[in-house]
Amino acid sequence: MKVGLYPGSFDPITNGHLDIIERAAQLFEVLYVTVFRNTLKAPLFTVEERMAMIAEATAHIPNVMVDQFDGLLVNYARGKGARVIIKGLRAVSDFEYEFQMAQMNKKLEPGVETLFMMTSSKYSYLSSRIIKEISFFGGCVDGLVPGGVARRLNQKFREGKIPGKPAGDGGDFS
Ligand code: PNS
Repeated sequence: MKVGLYPGSFDPITNGHLDIIERAAQLFEVLYVTVFRNTLKAPLFTVEERMAMIAEATAHIPNVMVDQFDGLLVNYARGKGARVIIKGLRAVSDFEYEFQMAQMNKKLEPGVETLFMMTSSKYSYLSSRIIKEISFFGGCVDGLVPGGVARRLNQKFREGKIPGKPAGDGGDFS
């Protein structure tokens, strides 16, 4: 079985991520979209909320499985029998960091390949960080994120949540 992995923070999923998922799902029998449970970051959404938003946005793609992981990505890949990690590239600025990770993952697990896909140009300026910032300051994110995500962002900010920092401390949106 051809298994692919599309890992990320997905805090939250954007239409740029969804574009990659829709295209990558055509290359594999199963595509795991997997949320990294990163203890070093202070995400806006819990892992469960992020998984729920991804599941909702990908409900129309039958071979997508939504999952989560912690620890090394290559260990997770091995456990799932996946030989390909999918990464989206929006611009040259993404390249250096992604290149470093791909090389390191190759060193850690030579049997796993990283496959880069160019993000559709209409979403090349999108990032989860900028979506949170726009939404936090009351801007409209319709058409940039799946419907359920816009609703949940509004809800978070109505509850007084500030991304990246404890409430009342500014927030850095990362
Ligand atoms: O959406 P992001 O934050 O750019 O995703 C980064 C992610 C989760 C893919 C990356 O940080 C990762 O793979 N983390 C897992 C830990 C790991 O394997 N680190 C070594 C990578 S060389």
